[in-house]
Order: sequence, then structure tokens, then C-alpha cells
Amino acid sequence: MKLMVINGPNLNFLGIREKDVYGTMRYEDLCRYITEEAQKRGHTVSVLQSNREGKLIDFLQQAYREHVEGIIINPGAYTHYSYAIRDAIAAVRLPCVEVHMSNVHAREEFRHKSVIGPVCAGVIAGFGKHSYLLAVDAVKSIIG
Ligand code: DQA
Repeated sequence: MKLMVINGPNLNFLGIREKDVYGTMRYEDLCRYITEEAQKRGHTVSVLQSNREGKLIDFLQQAYREHVEGIIINPGAYTHYSYAIRDAIAAVRLPCVEVHMSNVHAREEFRHKSVIGPVCAGVIAGFGKHSYLLAVDAVKSIIG
């Protein structure tokens, strides 16, 4: 499968930000982990990150143009309020899985709501770096 992993704001600060919540793995190491594990499973993957909402929408439109087969997105805090990212996911009509490293439901109340989830095939949260690989398997199960 040809996959795109999109990470939103502050995820490039993994290893620096709130280590008690997100762990000590640096962002570069997470990217390497996702890429290597996806390749072992026979997939090609591009892992992209931006702190800007519009750029995340550009990535989603790029996925459409490049005939990506599945999208895995961690929208960071945009999860909870970005109707623009939600509309972009609905527009491209590609299988999409929302992921979170932390268990957002065990955290502050504002994190309990996702405006992205309803346009995704499903949501995986709370498994740290493994959330991304569970999402790879989930996309595979959707595409068949
Ligand atoms: C996050 C959860 C969000 O609530 C938060 O704003 C993030 C990271 C996660 O991966 O657990 O930036 O998406």
C-alpha cells in the first residue's frame, strides 16, 4: 500500500514536550520507526509534519493527487476544533485513520471531542508509537 502519515502541531517536539504524557522518543526516531515498520510490512510511506493548519490541508490534497491509498493522521490539537481539516479529509475521500499517542479520553475534557473522527474510518488512541502501526494495519483491513 502507498500510505501517507500526517502529523500536526507540536508533534515535532516529541522527546521535548510533556515526556510524562508522550514519552521520551524524539520525533525523528518516531518517523524512522513508522517508516521501517511500514516497509517491513511491504508498504511505502511518507511521513509529513506541520505546525500549520493550511499546510496539513495541502498534505491531504497532495495525497489525493499522488494517488495515496490510505492516510493516517494525528492532527494534534486541531483534532478538537479544525473543521477545515475535517472538510479536507471528507473532500479527498481516501481511507483515513485518526491516531493519538496519548489516551485523549483520559485527559482534559476538551480532548474528549474530535471533529475529525466522524470523517475517518476509525480512531486509535493511547498506544504511543504503536498507535501508528495499529493504524497501518487498520488501513490495510479497510482496503483489503
Ligand atoms: C495528541 C493529543 C492532542 O490532544 C494533543 O493536542 C496533541 C497530541 C496525541 O497524539 O496524543 O498534540 O494528538
